[in-house]
Amino acid sequence: VNVSKRLQTIVDYINVQTIADIACDHAYISIAALQSGAARRSVACDINAFSIEKAKKNILACGLSGSIETRLANGIRGLLPSEVDTVIIAGVGGRLICEILEYDIEKTKSFNRFIIQPQRDAQLTRRCLHRAGFLICDEDMVFDGGIYYPVIIAERGNEPPYTDIQYTFGKIPLENKHLVLKDHISLKLRQLKDINIPELNEKIELYEEALRWLS
Ligand SMILES: C[S@@+](CC[C@H](N)C(=O)[O-])C[C@H]1O[C@@H](n2cnc3c(N)ncnc32)[C@H](O)[C@@H]1O
Repeated sequence: VNVSKRLQTIVDYINVQTIADIACDHAYISIAALQSGAARRSVACDINAFSIEKAKKNILACGLSGSIETRLANGIRGLLPSEVDTVIIAGVGGRLICEILEYDIEKTKSFNRFIIQPQRDAQLTRRCLHRAGFLICDEDMVFDGGIYYPVIIAERGNEPPYTDIQYTFGKIPLENKHLVLKDHISLKLRQLKDINIPELNEKIELYEEALRWLS
């Protein structure tokens, strides 16, 4: 399959034997990972039966039924502990990602690595990863179809808590002076200033501080 820049960025972080593709929908992440050799086996899970049907059809069409298994399941409930090396949760909101990670912390901790791409509320995800006993070992941001998407890589382990600004924007992209993050913050700042209401001043200050980190 030909995947979007967002999905390709996620696939580029995969380099293991087994993955789980949680909230797989079309299963394009699993398919692209198998086709590129980034993984050898995938368990693709979704809560929606229609999505699972769609996934099965795509997997069959790509001749990958032998290496991608589909499961109708909520979050990681369909996985056994330690069943896969890396768990990917992409294209869903940060709140749902936290629910999925915190539903069974022991099971969550049985996986070595998570690749997480929240559609919104990324800061909740970063906080929740720390609470669950994971450290954020890498982070990227991709601009695709007019939207900015963070991609967060986490491994089991502990690290000191982030500051508020680091939870909001990601410590690693701030430290790396990530150009895509800088674009994103500059755009947000212009939009916030255009609205011009006092309630937004605190938010504007936070964005301005982040921009100082990035310049
Ligand atoms: C926008 S799609 C994301 C597809 C793919 N992961 C991607 O990044 O392109 C969101 C999917 O999340 C699924 N979903 C929502 N809540 C879920 C849950 N609790 N457990 C598993 N899948 C869920 C939906 O059924 C839908 O297929």
